[in-house]
Amino acid sequence: MRIGVLTGGGDCPGLNAVIRAVVRKGIDDYGHSILGFRDGWRGPLEDLCEELTIESTRGILPRGGTILGSSRTNPFARDGGPQAIRATLERHRLDGLIAIGGEDTLGAAAKLHSELDLPVLGIPKTIDNDLGGTDQTFGFDTAVQIATEAIDRLHTTAESHHRNLVVEVMGRHAGWIALYSGLAGGADVILIPEQPFDIEEVCRLIRRRHERGRYFAIVVAAEGATPVEGSIETVGDGGVDEFGHARLGGIGQLLEREIAGRTGYETRATVLGHVQRGGTPTAFDRVLATRLGVAGIDAASDARWGSMPALRGTRIELVPLGEAVAELRTVPSEDYEAAATFFG
Ligand code: F6P
Repeated sequence: MRIGVLTGGGDCPGLNAVIRAVVRKGIDDYGHSILGFRDGWRGPLEDLCEELTIESTRGILPRGGTILGSSRTNPFARDGGPQAIRATLERHRLDGLIAIGGEDTLGAAAKLHSELDLPVLGIPKTIDNDLGGTDQTFGFDTAVQIATEAIDRLHTTAESHHRNLVVEVMGRHAGWIALYSGLAGGADVILIPEQPFDIEEVCRLIRRRHERGRYFAIVVAAEGATPVEGSIETVGDGGVDEFGHARLGGIGQLLEREIAGRTGYETRATVLGHVQRGGTPTAFDRVLATRLGVAGIDAASDARWGSMPALRGTRIELVPLGEAVAELRTVPSEDYEAAATFFG
């Protein structure tokens, strides 16, 4: 068989481990040819590709990013986009395409399969851990590890200077990174998109710490955290991508200003940003990504188009691709309540 592969959306530690697994098993066990498309959906749209070999994918297992490049290109936002993808598949006599991505990349993959009957399957990735159909995505463990290390470092300097430190982490629609790194790092307040926050309650928790003789606090806020409607004015407009998502960021600065103004305690913000997405994946993410790559090439070899390998419990199972994008996997309120025990 001839199989194409692409990586789309925000990059994520573990992408190279998936590519390596697809290539290794695809070539060695099945005798397939593997064609790598550049920069997400832009690759098949503009016919940007290269043959992937065992030689060209050596040494990439521990490497962050993606050797194929990535983009937020949306084939459905381009005139004739889906037809151009069909033409590329035919031109290269491909039997199918493996799209490694998050909600947007897999959303496009699901549509290309269901509406145009293209032979596409998906592999789930995102540091945000917010995809449906799977219990966890690779990249998340690495992002939590990086954010936790940052919180540990901020803790000691916050304590020395008797300051509040606000840590803004990624998490557009779901607060998994904030929740896990906040719990692991012993944060005093965690703010997530699923639970609009009351700034006065945040300040009350910080004041209570002071009354108890703790003159610093760590506030971990997901970038998508929002104040209860109308309670404070939120931040400006960073534009939108081809999938219509706003560029976030700014909640850290807003909290810095509000907490300092309302409590009178010195407060500073640190934005972790893309540090959370860069660099080497944890061992857990390398293993999960490798297992998904193996399951992905197995599924492609069985022509299981329209499906997606997913972590269910401790096993990898094939689920319909549509499940990944039907509903976002957000933080349940009971998980947030359990974390709130340690607030203040
Ligand atoms: O989707 C993953 C993610 O890291 C989000 O947490 C974040 O909002 C977004 O990507 C940032 O994307 P970009 O790097 O394109 O600004």
